[in-house]
Amino acid sequence: MRKLFIAGNWKMNLTLAKSVDLATGLKQNFPAATSAQVALIPAFVHLAAVRQIIQDTPMALGAQDVYFEKPGAFTGEVSTEMLKELGVKYVLVGHSERRHILGETDPLLNKKLRAAINAGLTAILCVGETIEQRKANRTEVVVGEQLTRDLAQVPNEALDAGHLVIAYEPVWAIGTGLTATPAQAQEVHAFIRGELRRLFGSDRADRIQIQYGGSAKKANAAELLAQPDIDGLLVGGASLIVEEFIAMVRAAKEVKK
Ligand code: 13P
Repeated sequence: MRKLFIAGNWKMNLTLAKSVDLATGLKQNFPAATSAQVALIPAFVHLAAVRQIIQDTPMALGAQDVYFEKPGAFTGEVSTEMLKELGVKYVLVGHSERRHILGETDPLLNKKLRAAINAGLTAILCVGETIEQRKANRTEVVVGEQLTRDLAQVPNEALDAGHLVIAYEPVWAIGTGLTATPAQAQEVHAFIRGELRRLFGSDRADRIQIQYGGSAKKANAAELLAQPDIDGLLVGGASLIVEEFIAMVRAAKEVKK
């Protein structure tokens, strides 16, 4: 059985004081004995402060990006070593905002992903189609290509150590209030599972968690999480609200598969 994994991607939001408030609120309201895996993914500059608050809780820390090179002359970038020193466990790779707004390409994402997992971090690889691609019936082609290209040369040992998570985030559902229906999401998650089987074999593929992201909120969490291939949520806007995020963690505790 795959553990359900709820992660909050805070994106480029919140001041330092508000990040501290949010982490504190989540800590105070965190449900006892939850079986879900939970991560908070604040901006780089707030990682250290958030870590201080959550270090003695079941919540883990994630970063929104990483650079693939060893430390050196790469102005503005952040290395795997720097993240690990801050207690970071997870790192997002290929979020659609980085692909579409910042122009990150599959070859670059493959380097970032391999650097992260080779350093012992767990990469959350984000994939997903735009509305134009969905309307043109190209969802599987696009997502399949992203997986094949971004996961090239990933060592089996990293998979065995659980260092890869996939997040399916249809671009048209991100920040729009439009959520994929549970059936639409499950359809793509099942496709992704099939691609992972093709790439890594059934045993390994069946252990990889696939999160859904795109206007996930407390109102739709339980229904999404009940789908057989939806193993968690990558939450944007609703992760900035204590009550919403905690309700999603609770939904993960209660869902029966
Ligand atoms: P929203 O939940 O705000 O749609 O964002 C989803 C997302 O991009 C999480 O990484």
